[in-house]
Amino acid sequence: MKKTATALAALLALGLAGSAGADPSEDAELSINGEPPLITRAPAPAHLEGALPELISGWLYRDEATRAMEMDDFDNPAMVFVDQGLDSWAAVEGSAGKSCAACHGDIESLKGVRATTPKLNAAGALWSVEDFINDCRTNRMGAEAWGWSSDPMLNMTAAISVQSRGLPVAVEIDGPAAPYYEQGKDMYYTRYGQLELSCANCHEQNNGNMIRADHLSQGHTAGFPTYRLKNAGLVSIHNRFKGCIRDTRAETFNEGSDEFRALELYVAARGMGLAVEGVAVRP
Ligand code: HEC
Ligand code: HEC
Repeated sequence: MKKTATALAALLALGLAGSAGADPSEDAELSINGEPPLITRAPAPAHLEGALPELISGWLYRDEATRAMEMDDFDNPAMVFVDQGLDSWAAVEGSAGKSCAACHGDIESLKGVRATTPKLNAAGALWSVEDFINDCRTNRMGAEAWGWSSDPMLNMTAAISVQSRGLPVAVEIDGPAAPYYEQGKDMYYTRYGQLELSCANCHEQNNGNMIRADHLSQGHTAGFPTYRLKNAGLVSIHNRFKGCIRDTRAETFNEGSDEFRALELYVAARGMGLAVEGVAVRP
């Protein structure tokens, strides 16, 4: 009881307000380039144990103008960066004289990767898409690793995510992935920072409410990397986590840290069944 009251007080201090006129859209459909609509509402998976009544994409919480940008690739500001990612897919780099395409062929061969990652690598460690890319760069191409939120990395992860557009998020959470899932879940419910707020305080208990000018969503990752209008550029999942934790006035984990990989797996698992948007546009 006391804990709930503390979280509410902290949220009110941050400008939490009711949902007057701000519920997620009931009827908008995310049809991109006139294609059949993507899944933006899905039944909550059993492993959520009732934590959310239904899964709702962040897209449905955005205003009409922002939603419209994602409905046509010519209007989607992320697509310029996807094109740059495609260019670098074909570019020879590193001491082995190879491009990504030299081994993988068409980038379409990475269809499904965005939907099923983070996942375990051959050695049993949890890896994000960024880790697989850097492994190829350093161990197979003889090229330098890209920074987690560097432009070439964001462009490449965006180009890879487009290949999974429309596929439901389907990460592995059982067996050897289970400890990572549990670690991520613990983090999700941990109250961080001076404000003592957990991810759940905002995205589970208050989605649909306004916090200052922001319409709180369920905080899914199916649209990542996303184009943020505020940044006028792409942001990675870990960068978004960092921003959210910083808003609780806490020290945060680093992008590419094991903690954020585990959190990424758990947050992806909360969105299992929602479609990969490849590439979302958000405020
Ligand atoms: C010398 C060959 C080679 C080059 C060059 C190469 N890769 Fe790979 N890549 C592989 C192999 C082999 C694997 C592991 C087997 C697999 O899953 O396909 C892999 C795996 C991956 C995966 C994980 C795939 C999955 O299904 O989980 C991604 C993502 C990836 N590579 C991206 C890239 C990108 C981006 C580049 C260029 C920056 C690149 N690779 C360059 C050979 C290569
Ligand atoms: C103080 C409230 C607050 C907390 C705590 C918080 N967030 Fe957020 N988060 C926001 C706001 C506001 C946004 C932007 C509006 C939206 O998409 O919900 C956001 C956006 C997101 C998004 C992007 C959603 C999309 O559709 O693009 C993700 C993912 C996310 N948060 C994850 C997390 C995770 C994981 C945690 C815990 C580490 C967390 N957030 C903690 C307020 C919060």
